[in-house]
Amino acid sequence: MPTVEIDGQKLAVEDGVTVIQAAERLGIEIPHYCWHPGLSIAGNCRMCLVEIEKQPKLQIACNTRVADGMVVSTRSERTKAAQRSVLEFLLVNHPIDCPVCDQAGECKLQEYYMDYDRQPSRVALADKVRKRKAVPIGPLVMLDQERCILCARCTRFVDEVTKTHELAIFERGNHCEVALAPGKTLDNPYSGNVIDICPVGALTSRDFRFRARVWYLRETESVCGECANGCNIEVFQREGQIYRFQPRYNPDVNQYWMCDAGRLSCHGLQGEARLLEILTRAGEAFAVGEWSPALDTVAARMHEAGGAGAVAMIASARTPNEELYLLRRLAVRTGATLAGISWSPADATADDFLLKADKNPNTRGLVALGLADGAGIERVLAGIEGGTVRLLVLHRTDLVGWGDAARVRRALERVPAVVVLDTHGSETAEYANLVLPIATYAECDGTFTNHAGRVQRLRPAIEPPGKARPGWSVLAELLGRFEEGVALPSAEGVFAALASEVAAFRGLDYATIGSHGAVLAD
Ligand code: SF4
Ligand code: SF4
Ligand code: FES
Repeated sequence: MPTVEIDGQKLAVEDGVTVIQAAERLGIEIPHYCWHPGLSIAGNCRMCLVEIEKQPKLQIACNTRVADGMVVSTRSERTKAAQRSVLEFLLVNHPIDCPVCDQAGECKLQEYYMDYDRQPSRVALADKVRKRKAVPIGPLVMLDQERCILCARCTRFVDEVTKTHELAIFERGNHCEVALAPGKTLDNPYSGNVIDICPVGALTSRDFRFRARVWYLRETESVCGECANGCNIEVFQREGQIYRFQPRYNPDVNQYWMCDAGRLSCHGLQGEARLLEILTRAGEAFAVGEWSPALDTVAARMHEAGGAGAVAMIASARTPNEELYLLRRLAVRTGATLAGISWSPADATADDFLLKADKNPNTRGLVALGLADGAGIERVLAGIEGGTVRLLVLHRTDLVGWGDAARVRRALERVPAVVVLDTHGSETAEYANLVLPIATYAECDGTFTNHAGRVQRLRPAIEPPGKARPGWSVLAELLGRFEEGVALPSAEGVFAALASEVAAFRGLDYATIGSHGAVLAD
């Protein structure tokens, strides 16, 4: 293993590791624009120049492999002079429109100027080469050619990752610019990733731009809930409002990327369709209620329903593992039938990269908990039609949207009592006697198990709105009406109980799941 010394610190690395990667391992930041660990090396921006002992010229750290005995300085006077010169060069034709640029606050030009340059421009604004500004180049992406530093990250992304080739660099010298290839628009299913990797404000999000300054936003690690891939994300919020999702690196799931559908799904988690109140049917309308009496009512109805199969519960594959486990335990305590259900639209898109045809985040969790028996839902409907089922509990399940809607509507009319626990209003909820508002996956602790059996953490980015509560806490409280001494004060505690009972989850806990997830036992 070659050993390198960088700024006085020594490190042994595997063959093939570059200077920039070795420095990163030592916690030394070498400024860079064109290098991105998920793309090929372009070596065009020169921002990563470093001084290497015995080499007459400065070398780019992103494309120089470590050799044994190499001594590198990232802060020598020659390196600092190069960093200043490269920044001055990159800024020669830059419009410096930071006050009206949506990248401000997360722009590498701004940051490196402050860290490595801090010199006045020798080029007057009036002398700069002007290019096109605010050009929509796809449904999600806005291009500002003046701000582009020609790092070619975006063009490499569409060439190497999506292989859709919508973007290219045209012209020469001062007139060099990024633009759409003839006849193309940037509308591939992963187009939003170019916004994240553009180091400056040349590619911004048409969805997010001018909605919030990034320094006001707080981010929380979570997992996308829009398909079975479970891409790792950061949820950005301010004062309880979610503004954007961005991909979070996970080498085993999504590397650095996410799809546009998942990215835009942040908007569906909030808004007018959210259930905010406990709603109890009073004739044709609903009256607003409180949690404790509502759970007393559910427990009483479960007792009253009586008889084997009189209570049926259905949970969808959009339900976190913790809630599935509590429903399972509740079913055992009350003698209820519990069916899991996982469905996706017939036209659900999938590919061989990230997108899965299964648009549920936790089908694999349903399977691991033994709730994915396809006949279960049929048994419940037959039980309603036969008059056996007297109470139906629907958990995160808009049953009318599943399968045979006419049959489901008839069943919902026929069953004497329907309790709906959900995040959003739906046609199904219109049939309910009691509606209990619960948190979305961005508002609660929990876990989803992705298509490959990787259990991944959800964390609350925001508080649930109105009277909504995390589903696990509602179910734990309801379970307490049937079991003596239930002590499940946290989602983590519920997961611990789940892991001790369900073989596939054995050995897992929130600590081992960590930021990148852990795989189920076989
Ligand atoms: S648009 Fe952004 S990512 Fe693309 S070349 Fe210019 S600076 Fe780089
Ligand atoms: S591929 Fe699936 S999990 Fe990943 S971002 Fe898209 S919808 Fe979300
Ligand atoms: S990061 Fe090395 S040349 Fe651009």
